[in-house]
Amino acid sequence: TELKNIRNFAIIAHIDHGKSTLADRMIQMCGGLDAREMREQVLDSMDIERERGITIKAQTVRLLYTAKDGEQYQMNLMDTPGHVDFAYEVSRSLAACEGSILVVDASQGVEAQTLANVYQALDNNHEIIPVLNKIDLPAAEPDRVKEQIEDVIGLDASDAVMISAKTGLGIPDVLEAIVQRLPAPKGDPDATTKALLVDSWYDPYLGVVVLVRVVDGQLKVGMKMRMMASGAAREIDRVGVFTPKALLTGVLGPGEMGFITAGIKDITETKVGDTITDDKRPSQTMLPGFKPSVPVVFCGLFPTDAAEFEHLRDSLGKLALNDASFHFEAETSAALGFGFRCGFLGLLHLEIIQERLEREFNLDLITTAPSVVYKIHMNDGSVIDLHNPADMPDPVRIVKIEEPWIKATIMLPDEYLGSVLQLCTDRRGEQIELTYAGSRAMMIYRLPLNEVVFDFYDRLKSISRGYASFDYQWDEYREGDLVKLSIMVNAEPVDALSTIVHRAASEKRGRALCERLKELIPRQMFKIAVQAAIGSRVIARETISAMRKDVLAKCYGGDISRKRKLLDKQKEGKKRMRQFGQVEIPQSAFIAALKMN
Ligand code: GTP
Repeated sequence: TELKNIRNFAIIAHIDHGKSTLADRMIQMCGGLDAREMREQVLDSMDIERERGITIKAQTVRLLYTAKDGEQYQMNLMDTPGHVDFAYEVSRSLAACEGSILVVDASQGVEAQTLANVYQALDNNHEIIPVLNKIDLPAAEPDRVKEQIEDVIGLDASDAVMISAKTGLGIPDVLEAIVQRLPAPKGDPDATTKALLVDSWYDPYLGVVVLVRVVDGQLKVGMKMRMMASGAAREIDRVGVFTPKALLTGVLGPGEMGFITAGIKDITETKVGDTITDDKRPSQTMLPGFKPSVPVVFCGLFPTDAAEFEHLRDSLGKLALNDASFHFEAETSAALGFGFRCGFLGLLHLEIIQERLEREFNLDLITTAPSVVYKIHMNDGSVIDLHNPADMPDPVRIVKIEEPWIKATIMLPDEYLGSVLQLCTDRRGEQIELTYAGSRAMMIYRLPLNEVVFDFYDRLKSISRGYASFDYQWDEYREGDLVKLSIMVNAEPVDALSTIVHRAASEKRGRALCERLKELIPRQMFKIAVQAAIGSRVIARETISAMRKDVLAKCYGGDISRKRKLLDKQKEGKKRMRQFGQVEIPQSAFIAALKMN
């Protein structure tokens, strides 16, 4: 297809504003699938995504559209993951397009992710077409939302397209706007091949599938390609596009998007953002902006049943096949036994992996408190990246500790402003900006990530009754007055419960943890001391008094089968306990204690 008849675009939106519904409508209208094949939400391929309503992996679909000017256009629709954890993938997807359709729910208005996405689209020099969706709803206020788009985002909304993705109203106008208002891609068919590696995933039949956007030259079957950042060179064996069904085309030219396979088995060879070139006639320069994705949130994953360790290892391996940004390595904990230390792009990424392990692989897991990566400056001049609070070096050898900060954007109805400001202050936040658009407030705050990874998002949602939206980006590493808080049960440290906290919050948290554990650890035959300590200094203590536990006490008479049942039940309970010194701590106590942070 000639460059002037190609349009590459992304749909960007806050969660639930109707991105997938609009994409489906366009696919339906441009005939990529027949009615029988047209399932709901074809773009979200994983069950779990559909359920959570979150698109994890970017995908792209080629649509053929005959416009009012009589010409046929090749339109490549890029689906982008909406959540901040996948910000880098979003940014690479956007780099593959010339324009964005900005979907805003006309009954909700601009939300935090609307803004975050628009900023990213503008960073990629996108032309943006505002689209107001859900105008079929009685609560839709298109005029108010148009004004909001102009005030808050600063985009001209006078030509915003009004649609209902649900009823199909206005979809042809969106297609025409894409043809008329978005620029065609630029590229040189005769130049050395340069293509952007937008995404990759593992397919059990095809091996690694690579999603690409060709910038110059072409990619075709039989050609030996080289991935410049990873250095790997492979012969291309398939080239095609998704309509959304996979359709082999044999070649992709400049401006086009599609997929290739090349007998690649290991997804770590294909780095999102890498430049693909011709191995025979390689390009001298890479496309701009490549950066490998680095995990920023870490936690331990342990099987509740130690016998499941191998199964957990296999399952993690399978997930990592498809997700190059997920890292794991074996770890041993005195409290929890054998497990893995895992690295994630963010909290949501962590939750998704955890949920897939439990659901798809049928694992029962204990997750330790998530931790960020601290930079520990040692007195010998070295700097350690600390992923696990349990590995904190002796404080006498530490010069300073730095922690990551983020810049958060929060949008909310102003009646909740007071409590949300309080929450941000409690979490050591620094206000940068506070503005109003109608009855909604927009707050920009700097916050330490370690205060956000615990339960910030849950708290925010509950304080604002679900009306606040939240997004963040990386800011910087800063020195912090941080200490390791350890928990001891009868003088034995419980590594899985140690955390790194700000000194000012350490006593409160230590006391709360001790009180909670006192409730959670069942009484035993002897007295148990539960202590919280910073270094060797104990800052909180609770005592669990002794009790003789006799499960048969309630059993009068001689019904032996009933007695046996009770004894079996007790045995079952013991299996799920961890031995601490002599204290038995039930699994549920760990889980509850980890959750309370
Ligand atoms: P994520 O994939 O979670 O980011 O959401 P999304 O932006 O793709 O939204 P999705 O298309 O899943 O739509 C969210 C909800 O809004 C669904 O329940 C849709 O049925 C509904 N919806 C989408 N468009 C319209 C519309 O035009 N009118 C009405 N009334 N509902 C709509």
